[in-house]
Formats: sequence, C-alpha cells, structure tokens
Amino acid sequence: MLDANKIEFFEKVETPFYFYDMDLLRRTVWTVSQLSAKYGIEAHYAVKANVERRILEYISSMGLGADCVSGNEVRFASVCGFAPEKIVFAGVGKSDREIADALKLGIYSFNCESLQEIYVIDAMAERLGKRARISVRINPDIDAHTHVYITTGTYENKFGISAHEFDELISLVGRCRNIDFTGLHFHIGSQITDVENVFSLECERVNAIVSYFESRGLKVDDVNLGGGLGVDYEDPDGNPVADFDKWFGIVAEKIDRRPGRRIHLEPGRSIVAQCASLISRVLFVKVGETKNFLVLDAGMNDLMRPALYGAYHKIENLSARLRPNLPQSQIYDVVGPVCESSDVWGAGRLLPLSVRGDLMAVRSAGAYGQVMASRYNLRDFAPAVYSDDMHGARLRTEYFER
Ligand code: LLP
Repeated sequence: MLDANKIEFFEKVETPFYFYDMDLLRRTVWTVSQLSAKYGIEAHYAVKANVERRILEYISSMGLGADCVSGNEVRFASVCGFAPEKIVFAGVGKSDREIADALKLGIYSFNCESLQEIYVIDAMAERLGKRARISVRINPDIDAHTHVYITTGTYENKFGISAHEFDELISLVGRCRNIDFTGLHFHIGSQITDVENVFSLECERVNAIVSYFESRGLKVDDVNLGGGLGVDYEDPDGNPVADFDKWFGIVAEKIDRRPGRRIHLEPGRSIVAQCASLISRVLFVKVGETKNFLVLDAGMNDLMRPALYGAYHKIENLSARLRPNLPQSQIYDVVGPVCESSDVWGAGRLLPLSVRGDLMAVRSAGAYGQVMASRYNLRDFAPAVYSDDMHGARLRTEYFER
C-alpha cells in the first residue's frame, strides 16, 4: 500500500524510480517458505523475474533455491547467496561457456531442453572430469490460457522435448557416461489465473509422463513443475500476496509421490510482482482533439510489459490522494515520453484530475520490470529505491543526489 508516508518520501526522490516495498517482499517469501515446509515442496525462485541484489540476497537467506536461465544468472545467484546445490539452470540455448562454468560451480542440475544439449553436456563433463546432473524439460502440450507470448508448454513453442523423442531420450541417457539423470522438468506458461484447472491438468499430464519414463526403467526422482502462478494486476492492494496456498495445495494433492521423490516449483512473478511500483511524475497534461493525455517521465524503456504484451498495470495518481478536496475525475490516455506510439501506460483510464508534477505509480511492477528495461532513446535506467531506506540512519543520500 502506497500510504501518505511513502508519498511524502517519494516527493524527495528524483523520478522515475522503482520503489520496492520490502515488507511485502518479506511477507510473500515467508508465505512461500512456510508452504514449502507444510507441503514438502521445494521452491526455486525464477531469477529472471527480478535480479536486484537485495532481493536475491533476501530470497536466498530464506532458503529458497534459484531457477536460472543464463550463465550470468547462475553466477549472480551464487554471488547473492544461493548455494550451488540449490541452483538449477534451464534455457533452450546454453552456450558452451555457460555449460562449462555451471559444471565447475557444481550446480544442482541442468534442465535440458533438447537431445543435442544432453550430448554436449555429457562431452563437456567428460572433458572437465566432472559429472553433470540433468533433468529433462518436457513439453506437455498444455495450453495455459494466458497471453500467447508467455505460453510455453504447447507444441507450438520452442521449449522442451516432446513425445516423439521420449524413446530416443531414454536410450541416450543410458549411453551418456558423464551424466546422472535425476528427473523431469515442466513449465507451461506464466500469469496463470485459472489456477485450479490449469495446474490440475498439468499434474495429470505430468503423472502420466513420469510413469511412462519409470515404466521404461528411468528413475524420476525430481519432478519440477515450473512456475506460472498469476498475480492480481487489477487490485494489487486487495491481493498483495498471490494464492500460493491454492497452488501448492493442488500440486501436493494431485502429483504422484513416492519415497525419495522431490517436487519442485519455480515461482518468479508471484514472488516479486506486487512488491514494486514504478514511480514517476506527470510532465505534461496535453489536451488533444479527442483525448486528454498525461505524459509521464517513465516510459516503455523502464517497463516494457504494456508495450510488449499489451499488459494491464494499475495506474494511480498519488499526489491527488493527498489533496484536501475530493478531486474530480477525468479520462486520460496515460503515455510515456519515448518516441513510439506503443509507449502507452494505459488508454482511457479514469483518474483524478491531474496536473503537471503529480506523482504517479504504475503498480505491480516488480516482476519482469527492471530486468527488462533498456536504454532506448538513451534514457537512463530507473534505479531501485527500497522501503527499508526510508527512515532514519539507513536513509541513503544517493537517492537524492542523482
Ligand atoms: N520456470 C521457467 C522454466 C520459466 O521459463 C519461467 C518463466 C518461470 C519458471 C517463472 O514463471 P513465473 O512464475 O514468473 O510465471 N516477461 C514475461 C514473463 C516471461 C516468463 C518466462 N518464463 C512477462 O512480463 O509477463
């Protein structure tokens, strides 16, 4: 919740910036670690969602593992306190150098996405005198009913190995002398809101695939179901913590378990999305022929999701909240300063009457926000500002001296 204290603090900081509510992050991660223990499910934070150092350090300190998709993510996760044996490395295109570095670090496992990758890892492990633990990512051909760009588990997608390669995979694993096959990995998509149906279907499909492999002599000790739990972009204050209990509960109930089998989940968005807002100011109020525009000082380069996926983020005028009289409302197209027509935060948004200088918040910006920022138009990166630094001795002066 962006209350009056926070708004007063924002007044002093140069915009745009990402504001991280560390109390909410702590509450969210605590929820996940409690549920992990309750259901006996290992959670690996999907590092790609947000790589701010303080965030990674906090998440690792709470005992979660890390799901990485590049050599740099693997290395940085390790620097931020994730033990190598809690790091898994996925991704369809791992380079030789990334594979070698991860082998040297001794990560828990490679989530392999093609048969050729398994050959390459086996050869690399031999050359380095290491053993490589691998899980194999399977494409279960499930439609996650989410945005087409963040659906990953159908045969239309590039991810994972599909059914026609299963038998070849079994014989390949038997032949590779430097790898230890530990299990199967799945991930069907992101921002899944139909939790009950989609994850139940995933569990059913996974059970069938796991028993197919086990019936052919391949022991599946690790079953990793990936991430994907959706968050409430419409009402971030009403639902600040995603429904982890429902997700973990469905998996615990529906997935086949046996002694020695470990179940893993990889939440990314659901851990970090709600803890950040992109804070900016109204630069100009433009009265157009047919529309009124609010031009903010934050743009698509700071947070690409609306321009890239047509994603909805709630927009709030924070300054108007502090005005003494209840402000009138008006419909605006809220836009950024970047020279692209798609640099729109939200079209036709009903907001309080807004003026130049008003502080604005783009909510639910913690996941796939700062990490996907660019310097397009040679704009500066919006920095991170943390709620922990708002008070007393820990106030970081550099926030005010940019
Ligand atoms: N595991 C794997 C193998 C993944 O590919 C992903 C996300 C996750 C876990 C974490 O999924 P989550 O819990 O965050 O849904 N940039 C897009 C989202 C891309 C997600 C890619 N994979 C967006 O802004 O919506």
